[in-house]
Amino acid sequence: MSIKIPFLSKQPKESDSLSEENAPNHVAIIMDGNGRWAQKRGLPRFAGHKEGVSTVNKIVKTAVRANVKVLTLYTFSTENWKRPKQEVEYILKLPKEFLHVYLPSLMENNVRIQTIGDFQSLPGYTQEAVNYAMEKTKNNDGLILNFAINYGSRHEILKAVKQIATELKEENIDIDSLDEEAFSKHLYTNGVSDPDLLIRTGGEYRLSNFMLWQLAYTEFWFTDKLWPEFTEETFHEALLAYQQRKRRYGGI
Ligand code: FPP
Repeated sequence: MSIKIPFLSKQPKESDSLSEENAPNHVAIIMDGNGRWAQKRGLPRFAGHKEGVSTVNKIVKTAVRANVKVLTLYTFSTENWKRPKQEVEYILKLPKEFLHVYLPSLMENNVRIQTIGDFQSLPGYTQEAVNYAMEKTKNNDGLILNFAINYGSRHEILKAVKQIATELKEENIDIDSLDEEAFSKHLYTNGVSDPDLLIRTGGEYRLSNFMLWQLAYTEFWFTDKLWPEFTEETFHEALLAYQQRKRRYGGI
């Protein structure tokens, strides 16, 4: 069975329609290339981040219509603190800006906001804006829009190991009960299925400390397009590429 995607300005041919059976449930995106997009135009880097916000809006709508259940966006990594203070502040104010403009549309589209990452260490203005949106959207049961913010995978894994070590020390758990499922419960992604598809824009081929545990069997798709140039058509291309992959999970 195949579904049409009415939101695309150019309707795909029947032969390249997305199939309902193997559409990705969870798509994760490393949004790279904002700075270069701006530099190419002689603009300051923040102009690229600003443009990146409007791409986020377009891609969220596309994901809703393509029936994606979870969209995780790498918004700010634990390594991004190394950037100049002004740029860090600018990026960390973007969730507020995005939610201020687009929260009504997220509500209309039944989107639920969540986050992964070290949320408590974020500035108050970021926490407040995101907390407000999480509360407002908590009963929505459509797409989960998951912002990875102040997120680093090694930090996440280490945090899980420390929690488990404490539980073992306090004899709250038995070491034999520790399996992959039990370990996963200590990750920020607890309760969310692993990504089926990872997209990275900006022509780089690395994971940058993103979801190292969760991406074990994920399909990867890379594009040279810079994040502000990423369109619904590019997203559609990635979704189609995904559905043509054969996932074997180590089997044959
Ligand atoms: C990487 O590009 C991008 C980031 C570190 C920030 C990503 C943030 C957004 C796309 C906007 C966030 C949107 C919302 C809704 C909160 P880069 O700056 O490393 O680009 P470069 O490799 O070209 O320098």
